[in-house]
Amino acid sequence: MNTTLTFHNHKPETLSLQEAVVTGLSKAKKAIAPKFFYDQRGSELFDQICNQPEYYPPTIEQSILSSNADEIANLAGEGRVLVEPGAGSAAKVRLLLNNLQPSAYVPMDISFDHLKSAATDLSNDYPWLPVHATCVDFTHSLPIPDVVPNGPRMLFFPGSSIGNFERKEANEFLSMIHDAIGKNGMLLIGVDTKKNEDILNAAYNDEAGVTAEFNMNLLLRIKKELGIDFSLDNFKHNAYYNSDAGRIEMHLVSTRKQTLNINGHTIILDKDESVHTENSYKYSPDEFITLAENNNFEPVKFWTDTDNLFAVYLMKIH
Ligand code: AVI
Repeated sequence: MNTTLTFHNHKPETLSLQEAVVTGLSKAKKAIAPKFFYDQRGSELFDQICNQPEYYPPTIEQSILSSNADEIANLAGEGRVLVEPGAGSAAKVRLLLNNLQPSAYVPMDISFDHLKSAATDLSNDYPWLPVHATCVDFTHSLPIPDVVPNGPRMLFFPGSSIGNFERKEANEFLSMIHDAIGKNGMLLIGVDTKKNEDILNAAYNDEAGVTAEFNMNLLLRIKKELGIDFSLDNFKHNAYYNSDAGRIEMHLVSTRKQTLNINGHTIILDKDESVHTENSYKYSPDEFITLAENNNFEPVKFWTDTDNLFAVYLMKIH
């Protein structure tokens, strides 16, 4: 029997899909923020991406976490409040729970349905663990519910989601984490490394076409939620590593000249014009440690796989 499972809704007023689409598509360089990928279908597709053989980060990160869970727990100590922004299916945290023995787990996610089922499943599987699920856009705030016990905190941010932030946003986010975890707080964060471009390009262009479908699902959302009539065939998925910027870029490219009427706003897309939908920055260990140090974190230890495909960092506050 589980002792505690609570739900908290801190969903702030964020930019609506319509505002984001109209504003983003009115710019000279058209763009829509990647957080709009994650409706129910988008979250499911992301889970499927994580099972594609080319998309190495989840498998490698999981093996780093499971082989080092013992050491991570020894360095962090038991009884921390474990906070996970963007918890999604809350799968990776399971690799740590038995070793870390946190005093509570606070999964946060923007998609309430996804959060609810993940938190309920986890709570059933770990009846000793109080779970306080919080629905929030974690890019804006990290509200820790009042019911959460006092004590040192650890923020778990796996999956290289930090890579989806621009440098300025990454700094702001790290500084927000710093404030949210407070005194004696720790950060356990997974970060994708710089590597051979073929590996990176394949990871975002899987053979089964799941990443393409994930990217195109944004158009499906726009069609359905904003009631706009256009053919998905007028766009194609494009993802490639931009070595100058050190990032994978994802785009939706217009395959023909077309006009979209978005509830009174007219948007013209030229043939081959692209809508930039995501950046995924890759960091060498030196680059990431510098970024963290600039935000008052101090590395405790980091772990990589033998091919240096992915890294997991344990940081403390100084
Ligand atoms: C969530 N995030 C870390 C993924 C990434 O690799 O940047 C999102 C993703 N986009 C395409 N594939 C995966």
